[in-house]
Amino acid sequence: MNSTFSCVFLSLPLVLVSLYIFVIVRRHKRRTQDEGGLLKLPPGSMGWPYIGETLQFYSEDPNVFFATKHTRYGEIFKTHILGCPSVMLTSPEAARFVLVTQAHLFKPTYPKSKERLIGPSALFYHQGSYHTLLRKIVQGSCSFDIIRGLVPKIETVATSMLKSWDDGHIVNTYNEMKKFTFDIGILSTLGKLDTRYKEELKKNYLIVDKGYNSFPTEIPGTRYKNAVLARKRLGKILGDIICERRERRVLEKDLLGSLMNSKDQNGQVLTDNQIADNIIGVLFAARDTTASILTWILKYLHDDPKLLDVVTVEQEEIFKFNDDGKRPLAWTQTRNMPFTSKVILESLRMASIISFTFREAVADVEYKGYLIPKGWKVMPLFRNIHHNPENFPDPQKFDPFRFEITPKTNTFLPFGNGAHACPGNELAKLEMLIMVHHLVTKFRWEAIGSQSGIKYGPFPIPQNGLPARFWKQSCPCSH
Ligand code: HEM
Repeated sequence: MNSTFSCVFLSLPLVLVSLYIFVIVRRHKRRTQDEGGLLKLPPGSMGWPYIGETLQFYSEDPNVFFATKHTRYGEIFKTHILGCPSVMLTSPEAARFVLVTQAHLFKPTYPKSKERLIGPSALFYHQGSYHTLLRKIVQGSCSFDIIRGLVPKIETVATSMLKSWDDGHIVNTYNEMKKFTFDIGILSTLGKLDTRYKEELKKNYLIVDKGYNSFPTEIPGTRYKNAVLARKRLGKILGDIICERRERRVLEKDLLGSLMNSKDQNGQVLTDNQIADNIIGVLFAARDTTASILTWILKYLHDDPKLLDVVTVEQEEIFKFNDDGKRPLAWTQTRNMPFTSKVILESLRMASIISFTFREAVADVEYKGYLIPKGWKVMPLFRNIHHNPENFPDPQKFDPFRFEITPKTNTFLPFGNGAHACPGNELAKLEMLIMVHHLVTKFRWEAIGSQSGIKYGPFPIPQNGLPARFWKQSCPCSH
C-alpha cells in the first residue's frame, strides 16, 4: 500500500511535467503551422519527461554529447537539459546571431540560486543602460593604461608563489593557480589591501565557491546555506572597505575606486550593494577561468618538449636581457612575446574552457527557418566552433603556428562575443605571459599520476588538477 502510494506520489510530478512539455511543444507546433507551416522546431530529441537529456549530458563528456548531436542534426538542434527546453547552436554565424546581431532578442540567464551567491546587481545578469554603465567601468579597470601598471605587481605575486614550489614537493597545479589568479583579482579590483581584509575575503570567498555548484537549500549546515552566509559576510567586509575609503577621501585607480566614483546619466551613484556585487562578480569571473587555462598551458608544455623548448628560448632571451632576471619585466616586453602569445591562443582554442554560454529567448525567434520559442534557453557552443575542421584544420593537433594567420571572423571566441564579451581578456593574457615567463626560465615540472582525462569543475581542467613535481633549474640559461 505504502509503496503504491509513494509510486503514485513520485510519478505525479513526472506526469505533470511531461504533460507540460507536451503542451508547450504542441502549442508551438500549432502556432507555427497556423503561420503557414514555415517554422518548425529545430531537429533533436527532448529526451525523457522532466529530466530530458540531462543524464546523457552529465554521464558522458559534455563535449562528446555536443559533437554527437552536431554530427546527427547539424548546426542547430533542440534538447532538454537541466530542466529547460534548449536550442544549441554550433556555427560561427549562429553564435554571432545570438550574441551580436540579434542580441536584444536573447537575455543572459543564470539560476537564481547562483545569482544570490554572486549578487543580483553583478553586470553579467543585466542588459541595457545599467549593464552599459557597469561594463564601461569594468572595461576601464582592465584597459591597457591600467594593466600596464600592474606588471610589476603581478610579477611579485608570481615569483613569491613560485618560491614555495622549488623544493621538489608535489603541488596541485590548478589549486596553486587559483591562489595566483585570486590574488591578482584582488589586486585589480581592490588595489593594495590590508592583509586582515585580504585573509577574511579569501576565507569567505572559498566557502561561497564550495557552495556554488551544490544543491540550493535553506537547511543549516549544508554547503549552499554556508555559502549564502559567507556571501553575507563578504558584503559586510566590502562595506567596511568602502567606508574606510570614503573616510580617507583618496581617489584610487582600481575597480573599487572607479565604481565608487561613477554616476549614471541622472547623476545617481552606485549603492554599496551594487558595488559589492560587481567586485565579487569580477573576482568570480576572473579566478577559475584564468587558473584553468594556466593549468592547461602547463600540461601542453609538459607533454611536448619541443614546444617547451621554443617557448623557453623566447623567454630566456628576455630573461638574459633583464640581467638574468635581476631587472623586472617591462610592459613592452610582455607585448613582444610572439611565440608564447600564440601558445596561449592555441591553448584557449584547444581547451575551450568556456565550452558554451547560456541565453534565453525573450520572444519567438526565427533562425534559418527554425523557430526558437520564447523562454527557451539558447546555447552557442564555442568548443564546437573551435574544434570544427572547417574553422581550424586538424583541430585536435596543438599547433600554435596556426595563429600566424588571423582566424576567420567569429570562429575564435574564447572570450565570447558582443555586449557581454569578456572585459578581462587582456588582463588574463598578461597574467599568463608573466607566469609562463617565470616558469619556463626557472623551473621544470613533471606531471604525477594519470595524465589523460579531463575533470569538469565546471571548467575543464586536466585530471585531478594536474598534480606535478616542480624543481628549480640549476642553470636557467642552458640553451
Ligand atoms: C582565460 C581567462 C578568461 C576566459 C576564458 C574568460 C571568458 C569569458 C567569456 C566567454 C565571457 C562571456 C560570457 C557570456 O557571453 O555569457 C566572459 C565574461 C566576463 N568576464 Fe571573462 N574570461 C576570462 C578571464 C576574465 C578576467 C581575468 C576577468 C577580470 C576582469 C573577467 C571578467 C569577466 C566579466 C566581468 C564578464 C561579464 C561581462 C559582461 O557580462 O558584460 N574574465 N569571460
